[in-house]
Amino acid sequence: MSPSATTRSSAGLWPQDKPIALANSSFVPTRHGHPAPGTVPDDIVPEGEKKPKLFEQAKLPHSDLVLKNRAVVSPMCQYSARNGVPTPYHLAHLGQFALHGAGTIMVEASGVTSAGRITPQDLGIWSDEQIAAHASLVTSLKSFTEGLTMGVQLAHAGRKASTWSPFYRGDRKSPHYVSDAEGGWEKDTVGPSPIPYGEGWITPRELTTKELQDIIQSFVVAARRAFNECGYDFIEIHSAHGYLLDSLNSPLSNKRTDQYGGSFENRTRALREIISQIKKEFPHKSVWLRIGSTNFAEHVEDPSWGIEDTKRLAQELGEAGEVDVIDCSAGGLVPFQKINPRPGYQVPFAEGVSSLGIAKSKLLVGSVGMLEGPDVHQPGHLAEEVLQKGQADLIFLARGFLANPSWVEDSATQLMGTRCAGNPQYHRVHPAKRPPPRAQNHN
Ligand SMILES: Cc1cc2nc3c(=O)[nH]c(=O)nc-3n(C[C@H](O)[C@H](O)[C@H](O)COP(=O)(O)O)c2cc1C
Repeated sequence: MSPSATTRSSAGLWPQDKPIALANSSFVPTRHGHPAPGTVPDDIVPEGEKKPKLFEQAKLPHSDLVLKNRAVVSPMCQYSARNGVPTPYHLAHLGQFALHGAGTIMVEASGVTSAGRITPQDLGIWSDEQIAAHASLVTSLKSFTEGLTMGVQLAHAGRKASTWSPFYRGDRKSPHYVSDAEGGWEKDTVGPSPIPYGEGWITPRELTTKELQDIIQSFVVAARRAFNECGYDFIEIHSAHGYLLDSLNSPLSNKRTDQYGGSFENRTRALREIISQIKKEFPHKSVWLRIGSTNFAEHVEDPSWGIEDTKRLAQELGEAGEVDVIDCSAGGLVPFQKINPRPGYQVPFAEGVSSLGIAKSKLLVGSVGMLEGPDVHQPGHLAEEVLQKGQADLIFLARGFLANPSWVEDSATQLMGTRCAGNPQYHRVHPAKRPPPRAQNHN
């Protein structure tokens, strides 16, 4: 982290002249030789058992990052930021996953511009004022546990911006958006074309070519902050859930006539420009992509984005060798989507991309969507099955981690009948270290 990041103030949350980020070495609790939490050293695999794939490391193709296991905390907006700045809440929220063996944590969608936030309480990375708290979050979380890999999702909400967060609704003018008077940015909500997401939503102002190119630059500048100043190991470009890049990809929402509309190549141009410009500047850094694999709109006559488009894009990205992970999500572009959520419901998208046979030295594939499985008492089984079948290389979990922050640890016990390595401070919960209580046992 640069010295400047340790002295910057951030919207009054941190003292002006005090370092806000502690050096990693300041309180890493490592015991010499203690294996990284959330890993399964070979010598603890019970005889006759194989180490689950979930606990194999993942080497990323285009950077020197190695993920300590295959479980990724999927990005989750918490609507708890102030002016886009992370707060102590984020540390507590993400800290529980770090302490319980998650290999990789992706910080929630962070607006690359102020108007690119979904809600006024979203995180941001559009301003230098936001750097210090991001840097502190990264440094602190990494100091909690060994081998944690951290990324941040770079996002622009496009026509789905300026909306209410789920728990800040109150009295409002419209259920679907926050007006300028209510602290939103109705007039600055933009999209590929002046088509609202749905009835009662803001009709976005169509971006001029120049404005769109400025947003592309904002992604690049945000990546610069993430890598150079905040200390993130990787970034993920958010091109899913109906937000700006997803809405550019889809012919349902993109009716543009400039070089960013029309053909597949034109509709995906902004996304590809963002990726290639970031990689040009950071050839050895890790860039991930969350793709909206389908609009779930095959039932309407109008052409939409579907899995064949995703496969085509993945093939091109694989050949270009710029993206480490394609994280296959889906949906959220149109209110008339037909979707049937159930455990593993988005696995077919990851599987479709995996079936292309792109070398692991070129691109890894992530899957998401209720991968904690149908039975909370059986953590790890569905995820392990997806990995074993080669349907995906990484398992992204959102609600599964919210419901059970110890999901990684519980999966190890479930899959192997033995615990994975845990955080040293928690060593007393290990059965071998939990003798019957004694009168004096404070050490
Ligand atoms: C509270 C919450 C917030 C979310 N915020 C984001 C986000 O910031 N970016 C994103 O790409 N997806 C977001 N998602 C979607 C999840 O990352 C994930 O793709 C989705 O919930 C399906 O996975 P799951 O079944 O494991 O929850 C969010 C989901 C939840 C539950």
